[in-house]
Amino acid sequence: MFIHELCGSWMEHPFWRKSFLLDTDADLHTLRTCGIQEVWIDPARGLDVEGDVVAVSDEEAEREIAAELDRITKGKPQSEARVSLHDELIRARQLQAKSKAAVTSMFLEARMGNAIKVGEAAPLVDEISKSITRNPEAFLNLARLKTKDDYTYMHSVAVCALMIALGKQLGLEGNDLKEAGLAGLLHDVGKMMVDQEVLNKPGKLTDEEFEMIKDHPRKGWELLQGSSDITATALDVCLHHHERMDGKGYPDKLAGEQISLFAKMGAVCDVYDALTSNRCYKNGWEPAETIRKMAEWRNGHFDERVFQAFVKTIGIYPSGTLVRLKSGRLAIVMEQTEKSLLTPIVKVFFSTKSNEPIMPEMLDLGRSQESIVNAEDPAKWGFDLKQITGI
Ligand SMILES: [Fe+2]
Ligand SMILES: [Fe+2]
Repeated sequence: MFIHELCGSWMEHPFWRKSFLLDTDADLHTLRTCGIQEVWIDPARGLDVEGDVVAVSDEEAEREIAAELDRITKGKPQSEARVSLHDELIRARQLQAKSKAAVTSMFLEARMGNAIKVGEAAPLVDEISKSITRNPEAFLNLARLKTKDDYTYMHSVAVCALMIALGKQLGLEGNDLKEAGLAGLLHDVGKMMVDQEVLNKPGKLTDEEFEMIKDHPRKGWELLQGSSDITATALDVCLHHHERMDGKGYPDKLAGEQISLFAKMGAVCDVYDALTSNRCYKNGWEPAETIRKMAEWRNGHFDERVFQAFVKTIGIYPSGTLVRLKSGRLAIVMEQTEKSLLTPIVKVFFSTKSNEPIMPEMLDLGRSQESIVNAEDPAKWGFDLKQITGI
């Protein structure tokens, strides 16, 4: 395999490079025993995970997911137990429409200078949290779909859902989870006070325009001060979701541990949703590609532990990823399973051998001889993935 990056400080491992082709048993043994917990591999320059490696990861993933499910479902009513993506999509669609309407009216109030009624948002956050518990992929997938007109509202809803999903992965519970969701929902409320023409400008921004946009965290923070039931967490995330670990963020240029856990979570969720969304001036990136790009930047931008938990939340092959299978067929990832992040349920639809579409077929890779070789760029193939997935 080609090791793209050994995760961790260089003092923790004996290799003199972070990036190299792993092609000797001796190096493999060293890597396995040196205490490194995680590596990033580049399947374009070497092999992807398969066989034994998958089996080891499967076990770990299985244990983690079983423990997570146990924790989530323990003592909770049956309605919050995990359900299939298909079943949850029906409820998630209704919830998405309801969330959009609620956030739109809340944010328009803000634009008119009225105090936000935070208490009214709490039941919405609760419902989104329940949907995420039943099946995280349903709501997260829908929340990625935005139009240029509803971007700011749907981005707020998406960041709310991502904050909850990430919070669960980090082991947050109860009130902390609600706080995370609420903070996500309100983080960009300050954008309502920015000139909308500048906000939605398709071309390059002038320095002055960029400064206007960079003022949105503080404007939002000031506005939220006026809400009687606002929480300290929501205020903090609103003000600090554009701070970076290396101190190069804004508005306060906080660095490292000066940034709270919730603000660090906000930074990761915010960037991921912004990059994966379609905007008036660009098409969104694919989730798998976005995770890969964010991994390259993470040393300066994101907190390591929070980012790693986020990758687990989104998955290695998130739903909607175009993948090539061992047989040479192309498929699209439809749903993660509880068994493993590496063996999702996919819809096979194209043969690269005959170079033509084939009868679509759902395949559970956890119960099949087939496996994923790598993720493919849909732009290269010219597929309309939304049409194929129906999401
Ligand atoms: Fe923002
Ligand atoms: Fe944002």
